[in-house]
Amino acid sequence: MKTQSTENYIEEIGRMKAEKNAIILAHYYQTDDIQDIADFVGDSLALSQKAASNNADIILFAGVKFMAETAKILAPEKKVILPDLNAGCSLADSCKPKDFEKFIKENPGRTVISYVNTSAEIKALSDIICTSSNAVQIVESLPANEKILFAPDRNLGNYILNKTGRDMIIWNGTCHVHEEFSLEAILKLKGENPSAKIIVHPECELPVRMIADFIGSTSALLQFTKNDSSTSYIIATEGGIIHQMKKINPDKIFIPAPPRDSTCGCSECSFMKLVTIEKVYNCLKNEKPEILLEKDLLIKARKPIKRMMEISEKLGL
Ligand code: 13P
Ligand code: SF4
Repeated sequence: MKTQSTENYIEEIGRMKAEKNAIILAHYYQTDDIQDIADFVGDSLALSQKAASNNADIILFAGVKFMAETAKILAPEKKVILPDLNAGCSLADSCKPKDFEKFIKENPGRTVISYVNTSAEIKALSDIICTSSNAVQIVESLPANEKILFAPDRNLGNYILNKTGRDMIIWNGTCHVHEEFSLEAILKLKGENPSAKIIVHPECELPVRMIADFIGSTSALLQFTKNDSSTSYIIATEGGIIHQMKKINPDKIFIPAPPRDSTCGCSECSFMKLVTIEKVYNCLKNEKPEILLEKDLLIKARKPIKRMMEISEKLGL
């Protein structure tokens, strides 16, 4: 049940959004209450597309820092605010610009494709950005003999490599949520729910991907539960997505896959969950913390994101 103050925050957020011509973009991993007050909820690709095309003066990003930075890069004339600047990403943090520059130098002659889960500095060192929604298609859009350097997620990288068979060198990064799923616990759940389909994000480790009935980005997983005829699913990604799954499939059952070291039984991204309704309220009221990027960095980082968006548009993604 919502507390009185939560109701007040929600009302005030609605009023300030109209007064300031602001929109709230939220990722599927946000808490239910934040997803419900957002103007748009989506995966990384859809959120980038929305950030690039809206009429708001202020974008409040309910998500993590790399997502808010991407919004700023695509909409530099707008004020982009993030409720908590500590909302980082373990995967983005696993790839530091100095180390990445060295990695590129050690592997010359390769097209550098970076996952959107990277800092603006890593994007500026890249040729093309991808998200989990379009990664396979972005790689396939390149000539078959093109040599690729992929960063930072080794699991997504290996997933793409297996799908495309391309010549790829992959950075050794992982996400603290997706690498932690317990194969044993998922198999136990499957034993208890034999008709449940196992659906998995490509950031998961190979053993978990191997037992999946379906692998896809957050939006692809959501779409799968809508179109598929099964009635129950074991979900191996961050638990926040289950809110939208339940909304569009009220009669289906969704079972969160537990991490290896489970106290709560579901997987949470500690960074995503730093954003709260109270912080959204304060952020919109004070119009800060604001995402600010050096102009030079912004221009360099925009190029590979634009390239991704052009390819995605061309392919109708
Ligand atoms: P999606 O692009 O599938 O929404 O994933 C984002 C993310 O951070 C996965 O951990
Ligand atoms: Fe980053 Fe993992 Fe959180 Fe996604 S779930 S934002 S990859 S730490």
